[in-house]
Amino acid sequence: MSQEGQKKKEQVVKVIVVGDLGTGKTSIIQRYVNDKFSRKYKTTIGVDFALKVLPFNEKTTVRLQLWDIGGQEMYRNMTRVYYKSTVGGIVAYDLTNESTFDAVLKWKEDIDSKVRTEKGDPIPVILVANKIDLLDEEQEKEQGLENWRKTKEEMDEFCKKHNFIGWFNTSAKENINIDESAYALVDHIVTND
Ligand code: GTP
Ligand code: MG
Repeated sequence: MSQEGQKKKEQVVKVIVVGDLGTGKTSIIQRYVNDKFSRKYKTTIGVDFALKVLPFNEKTTVRLQLWDIGGQEMYRNMTRVYYKSTVGGIVAYDLTNESTFDAVLKWKEDIDSKVRTEKGDPIPVILVANKIDLLDEEQEKEQGLENWRKTKEEMDEFCKKHNFIGWFNTSAKENINIDESAYALVDHIVTND
């Protein structure tokens, strides 16, 4: 390790990744950590873990622990123990599946009810609208948005109203906005630490 490396502060950041079944939580993490994507769907049973060492800035290296929670309804009631020491959250939904968007607020409430910052505030949570690669934007321009899908302005408003720090359209498949989503969350956590 270089001298410069030794001077760096290491900060462990634990982030929980939640959202409905099949929204792409595991795929997002696999893309982010291993730069891999698989079309095969293998549901997460309980919880999986991943670690990404992120050279955050000259002073800080972030050891980002990602807790990948299986999306089955039954797990929602069992997650309290997983949330311990969590300092940030990612809620994922699938842009092609309305019911996964309807569940976003349930997942957000789940986080808020189970974990708080030291000061007692809600922890920062980012919203990711995954599978953007499956949307045909040209077609939507011509035919209008499906009525449940939100415009950028509506998403901004939604995030403000429900206390998400922000949102991104993402694709684990095409590697769109995956790094950006994680960075925005980590930046918020580290900067406000
Ligand atoms: P659970 O563990 O069951 O809660 O699901 P999950 O949220 O971890 O979803 P997972 O990552 O297993 O992905 C579900 C399916 O969606 C898989 O077949 C993935 O290949 C697919 N998928 C995930 N992300 C994307 C994406 O960005 N685009 C496309 N086209 N497919 C995706
Ligand atoms: Mg999974």
